[in-house]
Amino acid sequence: MTDSPLAAAVDISKRFFATQALDAVSFDIHAGEVHALIGENGAGKSTLMKIMGGVYQADSGEIRVDGASVRYATPAQALDAGIVVIPQEMRIVPAQTVAENVLLGQVPVRKRFGILPEVDAPEMRRQATELVGRLNLDVDVNTPVGRLGYAERQLVMIARALGRNARILVLDEPTASLETREVERLFEMIETLKSEGVGLVYVSHRLDEVERIADRITVLRDGRKVGAGLRGEFTQQEMIRLMTGRDLEQDYHHGGTRDPGKPLLDHEDVKLHEGEVVGLAGLLGSGTTEMLSQSGRCDRGRHRTGARRARAWSGDGSDGPGKHHSAEPRQAEDVGRAQQKGN
Ligand SMILES: Nc1ncnc2c1ncn2[C@@H]1O[C@H](COP(=O)(O)OP(=O)(O)OP(=O)(O)O)[C@@H](O)[C@H]1O
Ligand SMILES: [Mg+2]
Repeated sequence: MTDSPLAAAVDISKRFFATQALDAVSFDIHAGEVHALIGENGAGKSTLMKIMGGVYQADSGEIRVDGASVRYATPAQALDAGIVVIPQEMRIVPAQTVAENVLLGQVPVRKRFGILPEVDAPEMRRQATELVGRLNLDVDVNTPVGRLGYAERQLVMIARALGRNARILVLDEPTASLETREVERLFEMIETLKSEGVGLVYVSHRLDEVERIADRITVLRDGRKVGAGLRGEFTQQEMIRLMTGRDLEQDYHHGGTRDPGKPLLDHEDVKLHEGEVVGLAGLLGSGTTEMLSQSGRCDRGRHRTGARRARAWSGDGSDGPGKHHSAEPRQAEDVGRAQQKGN
């Protein structure tokens, strides 16, 4: 990590109508580091990153790049300065090929008969293949992006960022819809970019991921910076306390007066009986999903999340017969989810 930051947000404030989304927040990014930005839903994380990426304008405060004050009116201007924000809501052109998406806005052109400009398709494929190769993404660049899975689409976006020689790469909740092995691939890619001197911002709710890959951590709550420091200076409990403003109470209440049916799930923290609904609440990253997916002792029954866009998930083989587990929803905002008995 170098002494002077690549970019810094200084005392940034932003209001949306009655909501003070950011209140004098400062944040900086150095070359070759991962700076995690954490906070509960609505804390202001995406807003801060959108201001750094030229999507929104701050009401007050300053953005500095290489020490100089800048004002980006559009994302394109931030891109030119090497600041690439991969948003929480991904924008990609499904009908276009991987190559076209990777090189969106900077397709190589050649002159036909020395005069007529046309897309230099072989050069486009060559450049795109090289960029996806840097991410160990094994896809044919002629494939329409609409045929790829979510994780691969995300890598295409990141390859696009690489093609623009990103100096700063902001990943806003990048693992929300990824499965374990896809997360590992993303982490490898993050390590590669770090070693190449890219400064990364990692916006996430998932504290175990943050603990694993962040060099520094900044915590926002209700638009204010409430904590900042090096990884290792915070325990997960402290991060949760800063994020929520409350001490974590691991209070578990097993209510109801009826006799429980046959036990279906016997986890040391959660038990599920036939005919029973068990509520399980926790911040994303607090371990609720892991607890459900790793509890291999459920031989019958089904548990469901309260996901609005849940999809069936077969996991890595830990799901037993008759057991159905829905992955966390993308853009999850609900911290509670319910388990429900089925068959
Ligand atoms: N375009 C907008 N118009 C009005 N209010 C907005 C807008 N964007 C964000 N907000 C509000 O500003 C606050 C901060 O939102 P922001 O999206 O930055 O939070 P976040 O920390 O990224 O949350 P999440 O974890 O849910 O992604 C929230 O109260 C949100 O409702
Ligand atoms: Mg957000």
